[in-house]
Amino acid sequence: MTLFVTGGAGFIGSEFIRRGISKARIVNFDKLTYAGNPDNLAKVAGHPNYSLVVGDICDPAAVLDALPEGCDALVHFAAESHVDRSILSAEEFVRTNVLGTQVLLDAARHRKVARFLHISTDEVGGDLAPDGFFREDSPVRPSSPYAASKASAEHFVRAAAHTFGLDVVITRTSNNYGPYQFPEKLLPLAISNAMENRPIPVYGDGLQVRDWVHVTDNVRALEAALANGKAGETYHIGGGRPMPNLEVLRLLLRVMEKPESLLASVTDRLGHDRRYAVDFTKISSELGWRPEIPFERGLRDTVEWYQNNAPWVSRCRSGEYRAYYERMYADRESAATRI
Ligand code: NAD
Ligand code: DAU
Repeated sequence: MTLFVTGGAGFIGSEFIRRGISKARIVNFDKLTYAGNPDNLAKVAGHPNYSLVVGDICDPAAVLDALPEGCDALVHFAAESHVDRSILSAEEFVRTNVLGTQVLLDAARHRKVARFLHISTDEVGGDLAPDGFFREDSPVRPSSPYAASKASAEHFVRAAAHTFGLDVVITRTSNNYGPYQFPEKLLPLAISNAMENRPIPVYGDGLQVRDWVHVTDNVRALEAALANGKAGETYHIGGGRPMPNLEVLRLLLRVMEKPESLLASVTDRLGHDRRYAVDFTKISSELGWRPEIPFERGLRDTVEWYQNNAPWVSRCRSGEYRAYYERMYADRESAATRI
């Protein structure tokens, strides 16, 4: 089996590759933006099944050059993924998340890729009512520029299926957590700040609800959707226990044996959605998946991972992890570089 993975040097894509490398040949096509960290793939870098192509999904020639003819699947993780960054500037989100997805859809068609697995987000549904849950047929009404770009990408994926008969499956996941998550997102930021007794920023009243799913559970669901999902279908993936941010952070501080005085209220995110929560009945009943890692256990393991990998955190924070690739970019002229 040969898989073409985009964005495999990021948080979720790297978990997918670490888990899958012994079962499939994997080409990881990644631009290595600030979020793409080759350290995340140190365990597989020398594996004969693995290759990394440094390239931009918005570059059709680079994608076509790297995409093997007739490969079994294109698994599309690559995206700008951080909501706060999209509020500061949406341009790169439109480019990568929308244009990049369309480039990949065209390339998949030209190269006769058997299946296109598109990784989307529960955020395309926008703000939920206090007790609401997203279902696969809920309205798409994104509220942040990030979510708008992901919603738009989904439309192009469905259009490619409808117009050209491309075999596509879309997954929408809630908030992932676990090892190797870049310390700009809530949990890795809070863990790494708490490790240094630095304040943890709590946006607004901290009562926004998110539905946390461990990245390993999410990737198991992606594997199920890739292998057995029905063409043209969308599957929701969630953790089954939506919680307000403050509850999550208090639990975290108890696990880390740190004082609640580290919690620092800061100005709220613009347009901050109050609630996301995912109904994952469909993937459970059709594909037999459900989350297996209870939040408390996953959180303890995640804290332990960050504590045991302090050099990974400090290389992220200092930007050191990018140095080699920045030099390499400067030395090469070609847009895509096979390593
Ligand atoms: P991430 O930000 O950790 O990683 C993104 C990866 O994409 C990086 O390796 C980056 O270098 C690469 N990339 C960015 N722009 C690129 C481009 N133009 N060309 C090639 N590569 C590029 O993201 P993540 O948290 O692992 O999320 C992966 C996917 O899952 C995204 O599509 C995201 O929208 C979606 N998602 C994430 C979550 C979550 O909680 N993290 C939840 C639901 C959905
Ligand atoms: O729901 C899925 C989405 O989850 C993914 O599609 C996104 O890629 C991913 O980034 C994530 O988006 P969120 O905005 O929910 O995640 P973030 O970690 O940025 O924030 C989680 C919650 O915590 C949110 O309500 C904002 C809040 N927050 C965040 C940060 C970074 C804080 O209170 N303080 C912070 O410092």
